[in-house]
Amino acid sequence: MRGPSPTVQTVALAVTTCVVLGSLIGASQDALPDGPGKDILQSTCTKCHGLNRVTSAGYTRDGWLNVVNMMVNAGATLTPDQITTLTDYLAANFPERSSPQAVIIPGAVKVTINEWVVPVPGSRPHDPLATADGDIWYTGQMANELGRLDPRTGGITEYRLPIADSGPHGLVADASGHIWFTANFKGYIGDLDPQTGNVRPHFLAADARDPHTPLFDQQGILWFTVQGADMVGRLNPKTGTIKVVDVPTARANPYGMVITSKGVPYFAEFGTNKLASIDPSTMAITEYVLPNAGARPRRVAITSDDVIYYTDYARGYLGRFDLRTGAFAEWPSPGGPNSRPYGITVLGDAVWYSESGVKPNTIVRFDPVATTFQTWAIPSGGGVVRNMMPTRDGNIAIACSGVNRIGLVMVVKGAGGH
Ligand code: HEC
Repeated sequence: MRGPSPTVQTVALAVTTCVVLGSLIGASQDALPDGPGKDILQSTCTKCHGLNRVTSAGYTRDGWLNVVNMMVNAGATLTPDQITTLTDYLAANFPERSSPQAVIIPGAVKVTINEWVVPVPGSRPHDPLATADGDIWYTGQMANELGRLDPRTGGITEYRLPIADSGPHGLVADASGHIWFTANFKGYIGDLDPQTGNVRPHFLAADARDPHTPLFDQQGILWFTVQGADMVGRLNPKTGTIKVVDVPTARANPYGMVITSKGVPYFAEFGTNKLASIDPSTMAITEYVLPNAGARPRRVAITSDDVIYYTDYARGYLGRFDLRTGAFAEWPSPGGPNSRPYGITVLGDAVWYSESGVKPNTIVRFDPVATTFQTWAIPSGGGVVRNMMPTRDGNIAIACSGVNRIGLVMVVKGAGGH
């Protein structure tokens, strides 16, 4: 199913991106290796950002094909032949960087991992959302759509967003089943009605760039982080009123968020080594400094008794912040310092997350009582799992962003898995 066609003004994504990155264009142009595809790269791939964005990356051929498809979705104009020529050129000259091998730790828990390819190539499925009806929604960040997978049939329904280049990022359901999402590239929070496909955009002030992770509290207030602008905010769906506040630390990059049993939002400051809480009534922010200065907490998860776990992306650690005692603890992730732990959640009494820096990406289970790890390889390789969440059946929904797939980690029940 498709939503209604564009009704609101569409300012090309390219315009903003060019202003920010335009000065880098040309920097490495002379250094490009010769070969078919070089001309296409120089003419097409410098329209929105510098060449360095391309030349600093490294992918397999499949990975480059996915990137090129993403860019076509973003507005790059290429014929099918040019896509092939350019992809071959990129794969030959900018191959995948070596990354550490996944460390597989066996254990008692049994899982099977199913994955489904999403319809639009280069969608970059960013976040998954497991809803009460058993479906798994996702944001197709570069495809400008939300998708809805029925894992029982594999069927996927697409909801195209009326505002071009929205860059849908995080998403969450309200009590009535509407899907709320942050439109990363266009600075609004959308409310999608699955019955009609209609989207109501709630625009943030122009300086609140890069809305990131949305979450409802127990009162039905929508809280969100605004990464690029260094802000957090709240939206009252009943009135449409939005209020944002600045984070005390500059360039803190407010990122993943959770809400405690008492209704207090906590978020990770990915630009520094801090977590922070927001007073739900005054919106005053309190920061908590992690023990290691090099830590960069990216996403957070919370247990039913209010213990926060965070993925330390920079150091390759799993961390814990016990709100009851204020104590921190941390463990090296099985894949090592470059394992880049990223999407994380709590399922039952265990912590689950993914290592995005190892090959293939892993699913990791941490038992907080025994403090032991068990890991599994993601069959597709994962392509960076940026977020995950439990389903109503005690499984875990994942979005495999760089391999254009949605996955379901099915935990075999009765095997100590829950
Ligand atoms: C219409 C604008 C536009 C054009 C043209 C464009 N890009 Fe991009 N590119 C983007 C945007 C926007 C992003 C940032 C996406 C994000 O939020 O990560 C990006 C990011 C990238 C990245 C980083 C992606 C990642 O996952 O880390 C690479 C690599 C890249 N572009 C390669 C290319 C190549 C190759 C071309 C030529 C085919 C190209 N771009 C043309 C808009 C464009």
